[in-house]
Amino acid sequence: MDMTAFYNLSYGVYLCTSWDNGAPVGCVANSAMQITSSPATIAVSINKENYTHRCIEDCGHFAITVLGEHCDPRLIGVFGFRTSAEVNKFEEFPYAVRGKLPVPDGGISYFSCKVVEKMDTATHTVFLGEVIDAGNLQKDAPMTYAYYHRVLKGKTAAKAPTFNQAPMPEEEVKQYEYVCRICSYVYRGETPFEELPDDWVCPICGVGKEEFCRREVKAARPAAKSGQYVCKVCGYVYDGKVPFEELPDDWVCPLCGVGKSEFERMP
Ligand SMILES: Cc1cc2nc3c(=O)[nH]c(=O)nc-3n(C[C@H](O)[C@H](O)[C@H](O)COP(=O)(O)O)c2cc1C
Repeated sequence: MDMTAFYNLSYGVYLCTSWDNGAPVGCVANSAMQITSSPATIAVSINKENYTHRCIEDCGHFAITVLGEHCDPRLIGVFGFRTSAEVNKFEEFPYAVRGKLPVPDGGISYFSCKVVEKMDTATHTVFLGEVIDAGNLQKDAPMTYAYYHRVLKGKTAAKAPTFNQAPMPEEEVKQYEYVCRICSYVYRGETPFEELPDDWVCPICGVGKEEFCRREVKAARPAAKSGQYVCKVCGYVYDGKVPFEELPDDWVCPLCGVGKSEFERMP
């Protein structure tokens, strides 16, 4: 069996949320899809070890929030790589109650669902939900799972149904880089399409942001290189702005929000 065939299945990237005795909880799920139109029903496959799983079981409802390509990537880092058993994911992400369910701000559409059926598998439960409310929140292109891998450079979480099927083929990613007109120093953002900060100063020749010009580059999907720091929680790779740069003490992972102690240096 050629496991790389699984990479040709298409998905979106969603937040699946519910209540835990009145407190909002949720996780990232790529496995949501529409099953029928009348009545409108949506299925989502949730790992039994995810905290969100028990909450959906208990509450009997879940919401699916569709993420757009320009959403805050930390939504994926926090909801997809951390657990509500340990952190309140909604502390930094405000939400509104829509169709009785918590829907985090920052998505493009939502569907609030009442569980009407479920299917048990060895590792996941497929919840089938009748849509009781739906709406659009803002305009953006829906993020595909391929975009998440290719552009955001995200990795597959261990509890996603699509985990570990085969090594990911090396891909090209698009990114911006900024070149200093004076000394040719190249700044490549830590996240794709990152803008130069307004107070940017060239670390080599000291000129400001106005002396930098932007260009789009294609780079190989980066594997962590020797000396680079990798987040043990979400796999984010810190690419120092200057060679041999140490991680700052107050470093916070831009994807999942953990501190420096959760990063390890590649040997
Ligand atoms: C891109 C992505 C897709 C994911 N898809 C799923 C999924 O479809 N089903 C699932 O159970 N977990 C999925 N996960 C993993 C959960 O989001 C992750 O285990 C999360 O930390 C669980 O949080 P919780 O313990 O608070 O429920 C995915 C994670 C990522 C990053």
